[in-house]
Amino acid sequence: MNGKLIVANWKMLPESLAQAQEILEFTDDYLSSLSEKRELSLVFCPPFVFTEEVGKMLRTSHLEHEAFLGAQDVATEDRAALTGEVSGPMLTKLGVSYVIIGHSERRWKLGESDETVNQKLKAALRNGLIPIVCIGERTREGKFKEFLEEQVTKTFTGLTADEVDKCIIAYEPVWAISTNPGAHPDTPESALESIGVIKKILNSKFSIQNPMFLYGGSVNSNNVAGFLKEKEINGALIGGASVNKEEFVKILELILEIG
Ligand code: PGA
Repeated sequence: MNGKLIVANWKMLPESLAQAQEILEFTDDYLSSLSEKRELSLVFCPPFVFTEEVGKMLRTSHLEHEAFLGAQDVATEDRAALTGEVSGPMLTKLGVSYVIIGHSERRWKLGESDETVNQKLKAALRNGLIPIVCIGERTREGKFKEFLEEQVTKTFTGLTADEVDKCIIAYEPVWAISTNPGAHPDTPESALESIGVIKKILNSKFSIQNPMFLYGGSVNSNNVAGFLKEKEINGALIGGASVNKEEFVKILELILEIG
């Protein structure tokens, strides 16, 4: 993987495969037009129904070497009767290499517990998928540091240090996610404070020194540079802005300017 990592979490968009293709082609055209080698890696996490086709589009575009296929979720079990779920082995067969684990929409809107998130994380690792583990408090008020500590502890419980080392951690404060009521982006300073809390726990429990961190929550072209110029922030997890092709490319341009 090169440079900063940008994960596009498309959630339940776009509405058609043709629109997905437009986003990828627009991104491909922009990156292909650059004369210099670009220090950037991209992961596209489409809605599950588009996974196979998006994988083919990535393989046949110039994005082949810097863009990877991701999934938005994985089942806790590899083989089981679990209606509606998609297993790790199914994802790997489609060419998926990254998977988002414990997104706050799954935790809070769909009732996924820390225990379930932990099982999904283990399923991802068991299947050789790189987990993008979402961690974030619902509110900044009160004991948010204690909340983060508990969420990290329960999410990573039972893992070896080597396994935790394979994870990418997305710090995504729930209140900053663009679709939540009253959402506003975090500031780089306060995101770094939370990242510091998460780092400390991973260090004390697993002796992990430098886990890879993404910031997520209302990332757009106005704020991305502020976050990504921080050396502790290795990339971004982008929802809404990643399905707007002009905005997405603008974000990439700004990241490449940071160098
Ligand atoms: P947002 O979503 O960029 O629209 O805030 C981020 C996410 O939910 O991962």
